Amino acid sequence: MDAGFNHEQTKKIEKLVASIAHEIKNPLAGISSTVQILSSKLPPEDHRRNCIDIILEEVSRLERILDRFLMLARPRKLTKTLLDVNEIIEKVITLEQKNYDRKKIQMNFYPSPTTDKILGDAEQIQQVILNLLINSRNALKVGGVVDIKVESYPEHVKIMVIDNGPGVSLRSTQEIFEPFYSTTRKGVGLGLAISRRIMREHGGDLVYESPKQGAVFVMNLPRNQI
Ligand SMILES: Nc1ncnc2c1ncn2[C@@H]1O[C@H](COP(=O)(O)OP(=O)(O)OP(=O)(O)O)[C@@H](O)[C@H]1O
Ligand SMILES: [Mg+2]
Repeated sequence: MDAGFNHEQTKKIEKLVASIAHEIKNPLAGISSTVQILSSKLPPEDHRRNCIDIILEEVSRLERILDRFLMLARPRKLTKTLLDVNEIIEKVITLEQKNYDRKKIQMNFYPSPTTDKILGDAEQIQQVILNLLINSRNALKVGGVVDIKVESYPEHVKIMVIDNGPGVSLRSTQEIFEPFYSTTRKGVGLGLAISRRIMREHGGDLVYESPKQGAVFVMNLPRNQI
């Protein structure tokens, strides 16, 4: 978003776009509730219900885009508590397991043998892990495998999400972190941009490591605040 603009201008544009995004949310909510009222007036077998379902689906897609966009343009303040890294990953796995099972993708978790505590915003860190797990799921075919590994270092903790899908071409390794870069049919292209921002706000980072095969995303979280 900063092509050709200085920092101040970029901030102003971001603010403007965020306020427009926010304004669009209200009429969308109006459309959604009105269409639902219409739908409730139709008999259950009425074929026009299909059209209404499409409208509702598209409206909720727009709402999702706006929510993600607002999260990027107006990040929430971090609410930091002491977190157990292994525990937080297990929570996200529980959320995603069903979707993995449905697509017959295997998920292996290799927790760190030590109890690693970091100071962070639980919800936001979970969001980053979830974004990575969803991306891997989208990239994989039936029979794919995702490994989640935790490694402890004196200064930081590393969480790695490794999959054996097609990976990211060398040319695209920076583009994937740009807002709105997406190659998926339903994707918005904000997951990695938001995730990297969250990691950097924690004093860490999210990077893509180019393996020989598949994809490797590495979350680095510093321990220094404890
Ligand atoms: N594990 C992966 N393997 C291969 N390509 C990936 C992987 N993760 C991300 N990508 C590529 O990076 C792009 C950007 O990912 P990002 O999460 O930002 O957006 P998205 O998943 O397309 O949409 P959404 O906003 O819903 O997350 C993806 O569209 C895909 O091309
Ligand atoms: Mg994504």
